[in-house]
Amino acid sequence: MTTLQTSTPLRLHHLHLRSTAPDALASFYQDLFELRRVPAPAGTVALAGGERAVVIGQGEDAGLAVAAYAARSAQDLAALRARLADLARDAGPAGEIFFAPGAFTVADPQGRVLLFGVPRAGREPDRLSARLQHTVFQTTDLATVVDFYVRRIGFTVSDEVVADDGAIATCFLRSDDEHHSLAFFQGSQNAWDHHCYETSCWNDIRDWGDRFARVRRGIFFGPGRHGPGNNLFFMVTDPDGNRVELSAELERVDAGRAPGVWPHEEYTLNSWGRGWIRT
Ligand SMILES: [Fe+2]
Repeated sequence: MTTLQTSTPLRLHHLHLRSTAPDALASFYQDLFELRRVPAPAGTVALAGGERAVVIGQGEDAGLAVAAYAARSAQDLAALRARLADLARDAGPAGEIFFAPGAFTVADPQGRVLLFGVPRAGREPDRLSARLQHTVFQTTDLATVVDFYVRRIGFTVSDEVVADDGAIATCFLRSDDEHHSLAFFQGSQNAWDHHCYETSCWNDIRDWGDRFARVRRGIFFGPGRHGPGNNLFFMVTDPDGNRVELSAELERVDAGRAPGVWPHEEYTLNSWGRGWIRT
């Protein structure tokens, strides 16, 4: 089976959020993540800086509108689009803020939208590293969603978390050598769960913790180490309540490795201590 990792590797590049208060949300990412406003279509705010970027549009249903993944070259993107021709839709103006013409979207069976493209410009190095790296969703139909992302799009299963009754609870999916750039867990609703920035080391995690502390934005989960992915982490929330994770030491996975299996227990979610098991 053709996989993204072995044919057209993708990295999470930017997010398109909806907010009832876009300016307040934009201020959070400008101030704490050192992003600057860049030109954007009317009705949207676009911010970029270092190895992260975000588009924010007005909308009552706050949360994630689009997760945008970057291909390494126009040739890779063309190959991906040819393989996904029946699913691909032109991206439109918001999709070409950060991506060159030729970007396209794909909707999954539950309506989530992924944008694929090639960045218009290279990125400057971060002052304090935090590369946008993965995003995670809750789904009411994990089997259908994972089947779509693996068999149609080409993601690879890195690890699964399996409940006592044998049901798969969580699935971590990779699109290049990093353990996961996308993950889903089975739940009672279809909802965006969080997004994550990968830093360069544990000391960065300390410095990000101090940065959030200065604006009294406390950690609600972590610090700790996840089982799947083996990454150090903590989580805070942005002004809209969107969960934001900072991570370090995320595992890299060879293309041929068989998926791992983890029990659905606290130690899997946080081997250092308290887990946060969503329902
Ligand atoms: Fe995460």
